Parts: sequence; C-alpha cells; structure tokens
Amino acid sequence: MLIEKVNPVAFEPMNEIHNKELEYINKLFDAIENNGDIEKAYEEFLNDVKEHFAFEEKLMEKYSFFAIIPHKMEHSRILNELEELKNKLDNREYLQDYFKKAFVPWLENHINTIDTVTAGFFKMVNATI
Ligand SMILES: [Fe+2]
Ligand SMILES: [Fe+2]
Repeated sequence: MLIEKVNPVAFEPMNEIHNKELEYINKLFDAIENNGDIEKAYEEFLNDVKEHFAFEEKLMEKYSFFAIIPHKMEHSRILNELEELKNKLDNREYLQDYFKKAFVPWLENHINTIDTVTAGFFKMVNATI
C-alpha cells in the first residue's frame, strides 16, 4: 500500500472522492510492484483523477470560488504530468519513484492547502452537488 489516508477537509463529498482516489492509487501501485496489469490500472487511476478534478472545478464555478484560477492551474499541471507518464508505463522503477516522491507528496500538499481552503468555502456557502 502506498498511501493509507489523507487529511479530511470540511466538505464531505470531497473526502469521499479523495478516499476513492486512494484506492485507485494503491491498486495501481500494487500492479507496479507485483507485475500486474499496469496499463489497465493506470487508465482507471487517470480517469478517477479526471473525475476528481472535474467535480471540484464544477462546484468552484457554480459558487464562483475566489481562488478558482490557481486551483485549476494546479489540477491541469499535474494532469499534464500524468498524461506524459503514459510514455513510461513500461518502466516500473520510474513509476514507483514518481508516485512515492512526486505524486503522493503533491496530492497530500494539494489537499492540505488549496483543497482545504476550497472545502471550507463550499461549507460556508452550503454548497450542494
Ligand atoms: Fe481534491
Ligand atoms: Fe483540488
């Protein structure tokens, strides 16, 4: 298992999405470590990341969140990275390194900073999905 949990934020639907994402990350990491179907696990993981970001962006737009631009920029930067990583799916060492040293620290930091602020805002405005 690569990552067991992330810090909760103030808006429950986001926690559900974050927890679901951890499952996909761990499934992918398991495939990388144990010679599983990396292509399939990566596709599922990437789709989940896209859904995760789209969910937050849709709500930010709906409620005109004040920091929507920097938040969306962080999402699109990491999505570009993940698209690039498709060229490295045959390199398990590289993938392990990327997820341990880049993606997971990024995700934790993203959740602890901009997602936390965004969730506080959603709670404040009583956002509904
Ligand atoms: Fe998030
Ligand atoms: Fe986010």
